[in-house]
Amino acid sequence: MQIEILANYGDLSLRAAEIIAELVRQRPGTVLGLPTGSTPEGCYAALRHSGVSFAQVQTFNLDEYLGLGPEHPQSYHAFMREQLFAHIDLPADQTHLPNGLAPDPVTECQRYEAAIRTAGGLDLVMLGLGQNGHIGFNEPGTPFASRTRPVRLAANTRNANARFFGSPNAVPAKALTMGIGTILEAREILLLAAGEAKADAVRRLLTDPPSPDLPASALLEHPRVRVLLDHAAAELIPGRLQFTVP
Ligand code: F6R
Repeated sequence: MQIEILANYGDLSLRAAEIIAELVRQRPGTVLGLPTGSTPEGCYAALRHSGVSFAQVQTFNLDEYLGLGPEHPQSYHAFMREQLFAHIDLPADQTHLPNGLAPDPVTECQRYEAAIRTAGGLDLVMLGLGQNGHIGFNEPGTPFASRTRPVRLAANTRNANARFFGSPNAVPAKALTMGIGTILEAREILLLAAGEAKADAVRRLLTDPPSPDLPASALLEHPRVRVLLDHAAAELIPGRLQFTVP
């Protein structure tokens, strides 16, 4: 794992955007895996103004709430349109998210996996980090070989996401998520974590042996992982100065 500690969230966001923009410049047909949530918002804002053409890019989001359609304001479809897709030259039919209204969620997940394969696999997946160490909506206890599937959200994940819905009970109980095994097949992984709420999950990731108790620790098995942290998220890492970007 290559770890970079940036001074603040703004620098982290610019660095993440720079990594993605550079990849797309070198390989215009890049296939990206993308997260939603608060963490990538700054990166998406920077990409909106990067001047990079996404005309040949394909995107696959990590997850979507089960039961929310693309037009629901709290759906991840809506989030992606508002934060990124509406502002760049990426054709809509090259953006992919699981369909939260699919009549058969298991078949929908199989369709999603097949679409990733047809696209040639994921070149780079950007990930946020749950306070409980989840990646996508792969909650603690998820086997590292898991594939894209319907899942039940952990109580602390629903609490953490209540800010978008008004209350934890209003957050859908289930979602469709890319599996950990699916994520690990990406050629490159970029994990972002910002803020002190993530500091303990980051410490566990970098000090404990890999375990399904901390889903992000599956990334330790991947040969090309870059971790971008701000100072607050890195606060509990022993010897963190060696990773600090001047
Ligand atoms: C979202 C996702 C989640 C988030 C994580 C962190 O698509 O897959 O794993 O990345 O819950 O969320 P934020 O960034 O809101 O702290």
